[in-house]
Amino acid sequence: MDLTIRIPRPDDWHVHLRDGAMLEAVVGYTARRFRYAMIMPNLNPPIATTELADQYRQRILRAAGNQSPEFQPLMTVYCSTNLDQDDLIRGHEAGIVKAVKYYPAGATTNSDHGGDNILNFIDLFETMADQKIPLLVHAESTNPEIDLFDREAAFLEQELHPLCEQVPNLQVTVEHVSTSAGVDFALAHQRVAASVTPHHLAKNSSDLMAPEFDPDLFCKPIINSEADRQAIVSAVTSGNPSFFLGTDSAPHPTSEKYGEEAKAGIFNAAYGLEVVAEIFAKENKIKYFSSFASKNGAAFYGYEPSQDELQLTREQVDVELASTLSTRDGDKVVLFGRDEASHWTVSPI
Ligand code: DOR
Ligand code: ZN
Repeated sequence: MDLTIRIPRPDDWHVHLRDGAMLEAVVGYTARRFRYAMIMPNLNPPIATTELADQYRQRILRAAGNQSPEFQPLMTVYCSTNLDQDDLIRGHEAGIVKAVKYYPAGATTNSDHGGDNILNFIDLFETMADQKIPLLVHAESTNPEIDLFDREAAFLEQELHPLCEQVPNLQVTVEHVSTSAGVDFALAHQRVAASVTPHHLAKNSSDLMAPEFDPDLFCKPIINSEADRQAIVSAVTSGNPSFFLGTDSAPHPTSEKYGEEAKAGIFNAAYGLEVVAEIFAKENKIKYFSSFASKNGAAFYGYEPSQDELQLTREQVDVELASTLSTRDGDKVVLFGRDEASHWTVSPI
């Protein structure tokens, strides 16, 4: 199946770029391909103020250099009890802060400063609804009594649905939706959309667990069942405007992925676009690929699609693609999606 498509330069509506040597090593993968990138704030300490967001933005731009003129990091701040509403409003009005990210405490990497229950922040969310500041949600219950694979559904039902009822004008993104419950939630709530990752589109819990646990596929929310994967694939390949690409690319050094405790996160910035293109091609829905990768998210956040274009060609490529990257500190990171990428070439027009 050989084919060529052109799409507006895509946006990544959810990405972790880290800081320091890791930022320097990974930022180019995002900056060379994507126009806008919604930057996650879960550094240690978290990006919790306008000033920290502005400084982080400048470090990202410096690390990206000037080879990618369209690339723009869009900054988020971390939702915690310390968040200063006046500072948020000022940062948003100044165009520095684009959204607030909510993490349930303990759900994932550097989420310790997050919330115990999203409903505790209603006052902040009313302000955000008035100011038209979007809320980005890591939708995962941390209740140990709830089965790991049911935690997205539980959070949506117990916390996010009541929030959407109480603050109906708040714009909400269910990040990295991982289940059919997440798909249904985005479809059922008017001001709610969902970002979707390449790995939740391409893999299921058997890939993660069999024949043995694969740390390279370990992320939060956990990659769920084949039925859930299929529900996500059908939602995104329908072209429905409530679904858009957010890679959740999240690099961790191999020393921390394969150590005593596997860190959650998959680095897919290098080949994630090919992974998604392969899904759309296999489903015979390549005509909706640009909606998912380049248009729906932009429309949801109030932007026009890029005027710049990328060309993707599906053909067998004979070059051996890299499987890891190295930072200047000597850390290695595994690149997700090499097999899919071997069928595609991606080039600027
Ligand atoms: O797998 C994940 N990794 N999920 C997240 O929500 C955070 C991310 C990270 O920062 O490593
Ligand atoms: Zn994330």
